[in-house]
Amino acid sequence: MSVRRLHPIQPDSFSFNPENLAWAKQTIAKYPAGKQASAVIPLLWRAQEQNDNWVTKPVIEYIATMLDMAYIRVLEVATFYTMFQLQPVGSVAHIQVCGTTPCMLRGAEYLKKVCQSRIHHEQHHISADGKFSWEEVECLGACVNAPMVQIFKDTYEDLTPATLERLIDDLAAGRKVKVGPQIDRHNAAPQGVQTALTDPSLYQGQRTFTRVEAPPPPPAAPSATGTAPAAAPPAAAPAAAPPPAAEKKEPPPAAVAPAAAPVETAPVLHAAPKDGKADELELIWGVGPKLRELLNKMGVWHFDQVASWTEKEVRWVDARLEDFRGRIERDDWIEQSKKLASGWRPANPIGDKPHK
Ligand code: FES
Repeated sequence: MSVRRLHPIQPDSFSFNPENLAWAKQTIAKYPAGKQASAVIPLLWRAQEQNDNWVTKPVIEYIATMLDMAYIRVLEVATFYTMFQLQPVGSVAHIQVCGTTPCMLRGAEYLKKVCQSRIHHEQHHISADGKFSWEEVECLGACVNAPMVQIFKDTYEDLTPATLERLIDDLAAGRKVKVGPQIDRHNAAPQGVQTALTDPSLYQGQRTFTRVEAPPPPPAAPSATGTAPAAAPPAAAPAAAPPPAAEKKEPPPAAVAPAAAPVETAPVLHAAPKDGKADELELIWGVGPKLRELLNKMGVWHFDQVASWTEKEVRWVDARLEDFRGRIERDDWIEQSKKLASGWRPANPIGDKPHK
C-alpha cells in the first residue's frame, strides 16, 4: 500500500449542505454525550460523497470541529482507511482493485493491467476523460469471490479482465451494471452445482433426534454360533437402582410422543471375532484406533458386518460412536467395507484408500 497523504492542492473550505447537516446532527445524536467522536467515520464518508468522492483538508477540519476532536485525530482516521480518498478521483468510478493473496492468486494482476491500460498507467491518476481512477488496496473482505474490485460502496466480484473491461465500458456509457458476482453465482454460494450437504434429509430435522436417551438393551439369548449381540453397548445404566415408583410421574396419555416408530436397529454383532481373527477395521478410511476399539466393544469385528448395515443399523451404531458420530456416512464406511470385504487391499496403506 502506498503512503497516504493529503493532496498538495486543496480547496479553501467545506461545509455540509443543509440536507447532510441535518443528517449529521441526527447521527451525532445517536451517541452518548461526550462520545460524539464515534460518529467520525459516517460523517467523513458523507462528506466524501458530497465532495466529489474525496476527502480534503477542509473536510477534515470541518468534521473535527463538528465532533469536538483534534484535527490530527480525524486526519489519522482519514489516512488509515482506504475507503477515504485523499485526492480527486474519477467522476464516474474510482476502482479499488484488491491485491491481497486470494485475489492475487485468482488473477488480480490482470485486473490491474486492465486498469493501467484503460485508465492510467499509475494508480491515483485520473483518466484522460476524467471519468475513472484506480488504486490497489488490501483485502476488501470478498475473498471467496476473488478476484474483485470495489467502486465506492459496491463490490464487483468473480472478475476476469474481460468482465472488468465490460464493467468499465458500461459505467462509462452510463449503463446499469450488476453489483456483486459477475458470474452465475448467488452471493457467496458455491459456483456451479452444489457438491456438499446435498442430502435433503439434512434439512428435514430427522437427523437431530439420534442422540437417543438410552440405547436399547442387547438381545439376551446368545446363539450357538456365538453371534449373539451380547456385546452390550456400554452398560446403559444396567440394573441401576430403579427410581422410587412413587416419584415416577406418568405422562398424560394424550401427550405421548407421536408414534415412535423404531428409528434404529441393532445390527448383527459378535461377542468375539469369527475364527478368533478380527479384520483390520482401520483400513476403512476415517477409522482410527479409537474408533476401531469402540466398534470392537460393540461387537463389530469384520468388514462384511459393516458392509451389510441397513440405514437403521447405521443409526444404531452411529448413536454409540461418542465423539465420532456422523463418520459412517461422511466417510461412506459401507461402500468402503464392501470393497474391503471383497478382498481388495490398498497397495499403499497410507495413500491408497478404498473410497478413492
Ligand atoms: S483477498 Fe481480495 S477480497 Fe480478500
